[in-house]
Amino acid sequence: MKKIIIANWKMNPPSPKEAQAIFAKVKGRAARLSGVETVIAPPFVFLPILKSGGKIKLAAQDVAKDDGGPWTGEVSARMVKGLGASYAIIGHSERRELGEGDEVVREKLYQSLSRGIKSVLCVGEKEKSQEVFPHIVRDEIKKALRGIPKYFASKTIIAYEPVWAISSHSKGKADTPQNFFEMSIFIRRTVLDVWGKLAALRLPIIYGGSVNAKNARGFLEVDGGAGVLVGKASLDAREFNKILEIANTI
Ligand code: PGA
Repeated sequence: MKKIIIANWKMNPPSPKEAQAIFAKVKGRAARLSGVETVIAPPFVFLPILKSGGKIKLAAQDVAKDDGGPWTGEVSARMVKGLGASYAIIGHSERRELGEGDEVVREKLYQSLSRGIKSVLCVGEKEKSQEVFPHIVRDEIKKALRGIPKYFASKTIIAYEPVWAISSHSKGKADTPQNFFEMSIFIRRTVLDVWGKLAALRLPIIYGGSVNAKNARGFLEVDGGAGVLVGKASLDAREFNKILEIANTI
């Protein structure tokens, strides 16, 4: 199975020119790597100027919970698909921080999957000290998947992204591969409850939170781990390309 490496550019870089420059460098490298599914999630406005194709896929960082209508500032799954996005990140903690609740995340996931977009559902606890954190993650998954038909399972990816591990967090430090391994088993069990065994076994589970070229290998080698979601380090094309190279060897 190809490792899935997703660059989440968040609200970066500041200009189209810089976006094209990072994209071109990554695209050049990705073209030579057959063992990696390389995905770039730029801000919406850059989607039309970055051309997917070859070995690189585009992702939206979010989609609206509706297909169209009076929603100022929103962008639908249908629109991003029309601009070449074949992936979407759904329920990122930075969106949840802005007030996106579980029900909205569920509706967004449904919209995205209905358009045939590979949808990366982000889940993760806020604080490292939260003793009950597996339950928080289970709750997020169950609420997001409620009522989503099982036939969408093949387009669903879950990103375990503990909020405290994200680089912009005050104490942002990557989790351990061991914890990711344990959480991935737990996530699979939770999905089994909702969608059954086959879907749970096939579900790609990726890790996100302060991934860089130094620690990526640990997460990529985790048994059952399908890839990584990279924020800050993905804005440096050389660093991100190193992560792609590592993934290609695993
Ligand atoms: P980070 O971000 O790699 O900068 O920690 C990951 C993410 O928030 O998706």
